[in-house]
Amino acid sequence: MKILGIETSCDETACGIVEDGRVLLSNVVLSSMDLHAAYGGVVPEIAARSHIEAIIPVIEQSLEQADCTWDDIDGIAVTYGAGLGGCLLVGVMTARTLAITKDKPLYAVNHVEGHIYANFLTETTLPGYVLPQKQPEFPVLGLIVSGGHSQLVIWQDHFDYTLLGQTHDDAIGEAFDKVAKILGLPYPGGPSVGKLAAQGDPFAFKFPKAKMPGKYDYSFSGPKTAVLRAAQEAIGATHTFPSHMLSERLSEAQKANIAASFQRIAVETVVDKTILAFEEFNPKSVVIGGGVAASPELRRQLVERLPIPIEYTDMKLCTDNGAMVATLGCFFAQLNQPTSDPYSLEIAPNLSM
Ligand code: KG4
Ligand code: ZN
Repeated sequence: MKILGIETSCDETACGIVEDGRVLLSNVVLSSMDLHAAYGGVVPEIAARSHIEAIIPVIEQSLEQADCTWDDIDGIAVTYGAGLGGCLLVGVMTARTLAITKDKPLYAVNHVEGHIYANFLTETTLPGYVLPQKQPEFPVLGLIVSGGHSQLVIWQDHFDYTLLGQTHDDAIGEAFDKVAKILGLPYPGGPSVGKLAAQGDPFAFKFPKAKMPGKYDYSFSGPKTAVLRAAQEAIGATHTFPSHMLSERLSEAQKANIAASFQRIAVETVVDKTILAFEEFNPKSVVIGGGVAASPELRRQLVERLPIPIEYTDMKLCTDNGAMVATLGCFFAQLNQPTSDPYSLEIAPNLSM
């Protein structure tokens, strides 16, 4: 069973091919991130236009990398939400057209669920990937940490899950991206804040952890504002000082300390909730997904605090990719989940879990 997965929900045009929900055969990702870097974040119109130019070559390259022709492909999976409307449309319309012209079943995949399914890949024909030794076992506790999502979910089985909690405002990656902007660091903020944090003191600043009414809910707007206030105070300015002028006044040591202190608190916030959920639900496996899952600090804190071993997937499968969509698509096909009508599948930009 080979499924081709298409992903275009944000700034990555991506296509991957996966066999039996386990074997990674191809993973081609073209990012338009360089075009957005000048704006400090993704510009939806630029991203959508880039998808139109890239989608067909990316799919062709993915087939070539997997050494497949369309005859070898048993189905097409596509991210239909959540994401940027114009971006999702390109992927969904391409998948619909291919499902009709190549006569393949079509599976509509939730992007956030897809991130977790990247952890089911344990074998590959591709060089340069380090994958988990074995697939997660149910019940699976999943922590999704990306630029658009921060959620904690418990899966009793495939397609049987409960959302335990989520952020009330910014996603964790978004908070990293905003702090990077204050510190004058390049987009995407997660890796650049992480790199600078390595040179700073994580206890130099005391940023608050938000207390939320829901046991598993969290918030990143408080810590983000605290970073802004701390940066203003550090240069002796008032809270009216413009954030875009802070980085040129802060010393390298101040920036590194702010980065390290923010990273510690942001990561601790999601790890605290993960540990709490672990104690309540006793899962057999804990997995993480989404761009921030590539964070060495998050990986370190989880290993340190979880009572069971945790395996991580390759960094290249943490950020947006088509292989994660294809993997979930394989389980749709294997477990006889409903297919989508290629003549009517719509995008769902605000899709939740
Ligand atoms: O999952 P993703 O590629 O796109 C969304 O679905 O949002 O996640 C992008 C986010 C960005 O906010 C970026 O700053 C963060 O993931 N990110 C990281 C790392 N790589 C990407 N955060 C921390 N450490 C990293 N190494
Ligand atoms: Zn994502």
